[in-house]
Amino acid sequence: MKTQVKKVYRRCVQRGSSNLSGVDIPSGKKLAKEFGYPSDLLKEIPASHWKTFAGCGNPWLHVKMRPKWRVLDLGCGTGIDTAVASKSLDKTGFVVGIDLVFEMVKASNALFNSYLCSERGKVSFLGAEGEYLPFKSHVFDLVVSNGVLSLLPDKRVALEDVYRVLKDGGRVIICDLVRLCPLPEYFYDLGDSWAWCMLGAPTKLELKDLLKNAGFSTIRFTWGKTFHYFATATAIGFK
Ligand SMILES: C[S@@+](CC[C@H](N)C(=O)[O-])C[C@H]1O[C@@H](n2cnc3c(N)ncnc32)[C@H](O)[C@@H]1O
Repeated sequence: MKTQVKKVYRRCVQRGSSNLSGVDIPSGKKLAKEFGYPSDLLKEIPASHWKTFAGCGNPWLHVKMRPKWRVLDLGCGTGIDTAVASKSLDKTGFVVGIDLVFEMVKASNALFNSYLCSERGKVSFLGAEGEYLPFKSHVFDLVVSNGVLSLLPDKRVALEDVYRVLKDGGRVIICDLVRLCPLPEYFYDLGDSWAWCMLGAPTKLELKDLLKNAGFSTIRFTWGKTFHYFATATAIGFK
């Protein structure tokens, strides 16, 4: 599954679009506007870069950022959420974006080197897997993961590792697709249905249990939009 995920997301960067389906589903800048991403960032980042945005929600509506925070953007894609985080931090805070796909890491670096140069000092990007976070324990105040958890074959291991790298009192914000009912057989034949966050999407109950079993104490859950068998949702777990 990881090989398929890598293939699909590498193709997104190479083609400069998160919508490879040919169907007019909201994506890129249009989607970010719908989610309420900050209007100054919508202007500052070029339209061509927004095309690769593939989030499932807006984590920033659910948190009041602190300037000194250490933030992890898990599955950063081309760095849009890293960019939002960086804008709220002063020189003592930092944000790290990690992604499985090297081309995503390269594109994120290019965004900060070309357009967000003033934020460059607070940001770094790494090629890494969400299930094996290359960080010491108790480092981050906030982990955001936008459209990524449903792609991970082992969500239990990933959330346990997120819990490990968070400081006490830290939180994880997950925006993703949530499955509303059992999926029809044909989803299992579509090669890309895992890579588009569908086949691996947990139900609300599964997601809450995953967070609880990883150690998170308070779990907040907010529904987004419904699409046939799925809905977008945001889940927040506190350590
Ligand atoms: C749907 S995209 C979302 C990207 C970004 N968060 C955004 O909002 O635009 C999913 C991202 O997760 C990355 N990804 C998938 N599996 C991963 C894993 N096991 N570890 C780290 N990143 C992963 C993909 O390469 C891709 O960039």
